[in-house]
Amino acid sequence: MFSNSQSKKSDDILLSCEDISHSFEYPLFFDVKLSLSKKESIAVLGVSGSGKSSLLHILSTLLKPNSGKVYIDSKDIYSLKDDELLKLRREDIGIIFQSHYLFNGFSAYENIELSSILTDKKIDINLLKLFDIENILDKKVTELSGGQQQRVSIARILTKEPKIVFADEPTGNLDRQSAKNVMSAIFEYIYDNSAALFLVTHDEDLAKRCDKIYRLKEAELIREK
Ligand SMILES: Nc1ncnc2c1ncn2[C@@H]1O[C@H](COP(=O)(O)OP(=O)(O)OP(=O)(O)O)[C@@H](O)[C@H]1O
Ligand SMILES: [Mg+2]
Repeated sequence: MFSNSQSKKSDDILLSCEDISHSFEYPLFFDVKLSLSKKESIAVLGVSGSGKSSLLHILSTLLKPNSGKVYIDSKDIYSLKDDELLKLRREDIGIIFQSHYLFNGFSAYENIELSSILTDKKIDINLLKLFDIENILDKKVTELSGGQQQRVSIARILTKEPKIVFADEPTGNLDRQSAKNVMSAIFEYIYDNSAALFLVTHDEDLAKRCDKIYRLKEAELIREK
């Protein structure tokens, strides 16, 4: 079982963690261990409040766990200096948040452009077409629908060309067809760029498109695929 991922070379591993435990008012999870390699995708399922977003935040540099280690590109991220951590955050990882964060005062295009300037990467016009946002680029963020905002924010993240995409319910605001297109673009991006995807979702069908599936249940992260 799981032979495909176990046969990966260790230098293909982009993200790994060991013995992660974390609590807020109650213990969220104990001894979480996983690894994510180039071109690979992981989905995490679990009921609301089980700690999926918290785990995503821990793995993506935003929340130091009570115990355990997280490695990105073999670097122990919570022992990096502030400037090293900022560099890693800016260049190596892209986070699609459960509630997307765009700059409200700017247009859709300016939001994407900002990401391209910060990371010195070109805007991919095909991506904008694929996401069906090429005609709304001049609109202010506040003039966009929830689903349009979500597609702009995902386009913005992919424009950075991150090594690891962390996505928290990325298609929650989208209709079935738009969700399918957006996820196909993310999977294609991962494959073409030897990047990796860590996905949190409630959508069991979407989880099945990933290489590995885990479920957070009773404070444990259990592998299902
Ligand atoms: N910064 C925080 N401070 C205190 N408690 C928090 C914090 N972040 C999350 N929690 C608590 O941790 C628990 C898990 O939250 P989390 O957002 O990780 O769940 P989730 O599985 O992503 O849920 P959902 O499916 O609803 O998004 C919740 O009870 C939440 O209130
Ligand atoms: Mg959540």
